[in-house]
Amino acid sequence: MRLDQARKDLYRRLAKEQGYKSRAAFKLIEANEKYGFIRQGDRVLDLGSAPGGWLQVASKLVGPEGRVVGVDLQAVHLKDKNVSSIVGDVNSPEVLEKALGLLGRRADVVLSDLAPSVSGVWELDNSRQADLTLRALELSASLLKGGGCAFLKLFEGERSPEVRAALKRSFKIVRPVKPAASRSASSELYYYCEGWHGDLRP
Ligand SMILES: C[S@@+](CC[C@H](N)C(=O)[O-])C[C@H]1O[C@@H](n2cnc3c(N)ncnc32)[C@H](O)[C@@H]1O
Repeated sequence: MRLDQARKDLYRRLAKEQGYKSRAAFKLIEANEKYGFIRQGDRVLDLGSAPGGWLQVASKLVGPEGRVVGVDLQAVHLKDKNVSSIVGDVNSPEVLEKALGLLGRRADVVLSDLAPSVSGVWELDNSRQADLTLRALELSASLLKGGGCAFLKLFEGERSPEVRAALKRSFKIVRPVKPAASRSASSELYYYCEGWHGDLRP
């Protein structure tokens, strides 16, 4: 636990030094160093994007020809020219319309770091987080291009087999990722997914 805290402090300090809005930035950097799924010119949709660490990382990776669209209940304040933000609930139909408009075409990559505000009741938080990840998958059906990639957070718990099965039905390749910047005591795990084929049937 002490080691976990030390690691958390380290990434928080690094984020501050390197101008990132959150230590979460390092989770995406690490995953992209391994899988290289965000490329120059890509369109990226980032669900649960505040305070904006992943948006900053994706913005650099896609470069001036690319586009990054974030969605969050909270406003994000970034000046990067290739980043747009939508303040809204991922469950609302308007968000889908707005995201498609801002992306200009289907995304090459969908990111989701969606997490509910914690109630303290573990089972409830876990189940809400699973619903958010399933919503990211549902949005991918309308917003991700065929063959596209995703990097999604999932709290490990009772509902993870259900969500994992949905991911495996929808993507050709699904790999669990536990980034160094994610506390080992935390139940959060990420999934790198490749080869979207949009099959959401049960
Ligand atoms: C762990 S934070 C994301 C951190 C972000 N990836 C970064 O790099 O800064 C999770 C986010 O999910 C957002 N969120 C939770 N439920 C949501 C919903 N229904 N619609 C949109 N955003 C939501 C929260 O507001 C919160 O900002």
